[in-house]
Order: sequence, then structure tokens, then C-alpha cells
Amino acid sequence: MGAVRKDLTRNLGRMQPAIIKDIRNTIDSAMGLDTDSWKEVCITKAMEDVVLRSTSRVLVGSPLCHNEEYLQYSVAFATWLGGGAIVLGQYMPGMIKPFFGYLGALPVYYYKQKALKFLLPVVRQRIADIKKKRADPTFEFEEPKDLIIWMTQAVLDSPEIRNGPPEFLGTLLLFFVSTTDTPYRSSSRKTQSLLFTTKANLPSQTLGAVHTTIMTATNTLLDLVSSDPDARFWEQLREEAADSTIPESLRENPMLTRVFLREIMPKDGVMLPSGHHIPKGAWISAGTVDLHHDDRFYPEPERYDPFRFATKHDEKPAGATRETLTDKASIYRKNQGLATASDIFLAFGYGKHACPGRWLVAHQLKLMLAYVTLNYDIQYMAQRPVNQVFGDSIIPSPTATMMVRRRKHT
Ligand code: HEM
Repeated sequence: MGAVRKDLTRNLGRMQPAIIKDIRNTIDSAMGLDTDSWKEVCITKAMEDVVLRSTSRVLVGSPLCHNEEYLQYSVAFATWLGGGAIVLGQYMPGMIKPFFGYLGALPVYYYKQKALKFLLPVVRQRIADIKKKRADPTFEFEEPKDLIIWMTQAVLDSPEIRNGPPEFLGTLLLFFVSTTDTPYRSSSRKTQSLLFTTKANLPSQTLGAVHTTIMTATNTLLDLVSSDPDARFWEQLREEAADSTIPESLRENPMLTRVFLREIMPKDGVMLPSGHHIPKGAWISAGTVDLHHDDRFYPEPERYDPFRFATKHDEKPAGATRETLTDKASIYRKNQGLATASDIFLAFGYGKHACPGRWLVAHQLKLMLAYVTLNYDIQYMAQRPVNQVFGDSIIPSPTATMMVRRRKHT
């Protein structure tokens, strides 16, 4: 986890030119360069290309991030694993879970093996290079900047797992691209082990890097394109930072209906400050949607305001009173960049296990949005396609389209 939290985040600035290049190439090809006619673009498909390439660049580096076959296998692994966990964990009656667990594990295992075929040689080479460099500092090896290298270093520095097979590290990397944390935990232990029939012993706390980012990017564009045309939010964004647009979309459309899905482990349970006792074995979680629409923290919570999170500490939104804008909320709002997790903004979880990928997401999506708003005009749509709820996940329409036209000045 430290590799994502520390190394990846610290190196985002250095990786920026490569990320920008990937974003430019994928957006240009998805949205086109024609400045004379409008083009209808499937938003999810376009965001899939952008996010998959730029996230893979950061996770597995070049040349794997350009390898179509590897990308497709890793996404198929993610889709089967995440989808399987939701169906099995949240929709299946207990008795038939074991049967479908084994069945669901087959495609997961198949795509894992396919993706590992590409990933393992790179992992093996990195392990060998790092070991050589540590043994002989004169050995020429320019460290690539990607998660493989940082995770490999972390594994080699860890006495308990340093001698584990490269498959362990490879599978761990695949999990970063893929797993959906909550449904995974909410399946029973038995179901998990049946569905995730992998040789490596995997952690239960990774949340899919690619799918969550694609859905957040899609929601951000959908919210903007379906906003009030008279407000001219799209055009305003060209002038102002895109920072606040993305948290506003995540406020309205968090990826999960609840976070912190945890099982109570102490044998005496847990006593809350309120005096309520939660017994061992109970599952608890925090709802995101109600909290994000609580008008004590977010005045006019049903209104989409892409500049809500840009509001300065001392600038109270029009009509706000002490009741609707608590001190706590205004302080949070002051501090709230996209990557800030707080107890009134749970899109990235909160506390010790808050999402360590949020700085990457903030970086990536800001660059994407800046590029799209600067280089494209849009036609506002009359109505936003409604999001669907699947298990705990809130999913934007995968078929929604937007009309775009390349701007002339570029
Ligand atoms: C918009 C995109 C994303 C969203 C909305 C998101 C959301 C979340 C949430 C809500 C949690 C906490 C779950 C809980 O405590 O119940 C979480 C955890 C996590 N996320 Fe993300 N995530 C995103 C992108 C990423 C990316 C890009 C990465 C990796 C590069 C990542 C890696 C992780 C990991 C490793 C955890 C587990 C942390 C721990 O348990 O200590 N996520 N994410």
C-alpha cells in the first residue's frame, strides 16, 4: 500500500508529461480533430480509453501500457472479478453460492493467467535488475517510474515475502487494476475463497483503479454536459481550475452507496460513544449518498454546482445560515481539494484506509478535463441519463453519448 501512497504519489509530477501525452492521444482519437462538424461520442468508451492507458502507464509502465492484448485481459479480469463479487456477494442466496463461486472463478482464473503471461516477464526482469543493482552499484539500470518498480522494491525489502514467487507480485499488481473492495468483503469468506481461486494469498482491501476512475470521469462529463446551458459551466471551466468539478460529481455520484464495510472483530463487540453496542460478527458501513446530500454540509444539495468545492472559507454561499453551513463544513470546504478525504465527503473512504490512489485520480482527471474543455465545444443535453445501482456500486450509463466538436484555435 505504501508503494501507492508514497512512491506513486511522490512521482506524479515526474510522470506528468507521459500522462498528458496519453490523454492527448486518446482524446484526439476518441473525439476527433474535425473542427467543422459535430461528432457523437460514447462517453464511457472514450473515458475507458483515456483512463486505461494513463492508469496503466502509471501502474505497469511502457511498453505494457501500449500492449492492447495485455490491457484487454487485465480489464476482463477486473470485470469478471468485480462483477462476480457483486453478483455472488449481494444477489445470490447462500445455498447456491458455492456452485456459482466455482463457476465464476473460471473466467477470473483464465483472464488472470492470460494477463500474467505479459506481466510476469516484466516483473521477473525488474526483480533481477533491482537485485543486481543492489549487489553492484555500478550496474547500469535506469529505474522506470511505475508501480511495478516500487512494489518490487517494497516486496524485496520485506523479509516475510521477499522470497515469494513472482506470481504473488504479478497478481497483486493485477488486483490494483481490478478489484472492487466492498462487494469483495461483503461476500462471505467462503464465497470469497471460492470465487478468487488464485494461488497467491491476496489482500482484501484493494479497490479497482481503472473502473472507478472511468466511472468518475464519465459522471463528471455527464454532469457538465447535462447542466443548465445558460450557466455555461463548460465554457467557464476553460478559465478556471477544474479541481472542484470532479469532487462535485463524486459528491452527487459516489462510486459506492456505502463505504467502510467492516466486520466487527473484538470478541466483546464494540461500544459506541452513543451507548449502542455492536456485537462481534456484525457488519457495519457508512452510507455515502445521504451524507453527501445533507444540507447541513452542502447547502442546496440537489443542485449541481461545479464550483461548490471552490468556495473559499470566508465566502459563504448565498442564502447559507449557521444551520445550513456549519463551521465544520466550511472548514472542510476550505481544505477540500479533490484528493481530500473527510468525514463529510466519503467518496474516497476516510481515515487509515482512505483511498491511496486519490492523488493519482485527481491528477489524471484534472488533466483530462482541462484538455477536453480547452479543445472541444459541446452541445448541452436536455436530460442526464440516470445512473444505475448494481450491488453497492453506482454506475453511470455505459451508452450515453455527447456531441463534441474540435475548437478551431488548436
Ligand atoms: C475515482 C477513482 C477512485 C475511487 C472513487 C476510489 C474509492 C475508494 C474508496 C471509497 C476506498 C475505501 C473503501 C473503504 O474503506 O471501505 C478505496 C480504497 C482503496 N483504493 Fe481507491 N478509488 C479510486 C481510485 C483508485 C486508484 C486509481 C487506485 C490505485 C492506483 C486505488 C487504490 C485503492 C486501494 C489500494 C485501496 C485500499 C486502501 C486500504 O485499504 O488501506 N483507488 N478507494
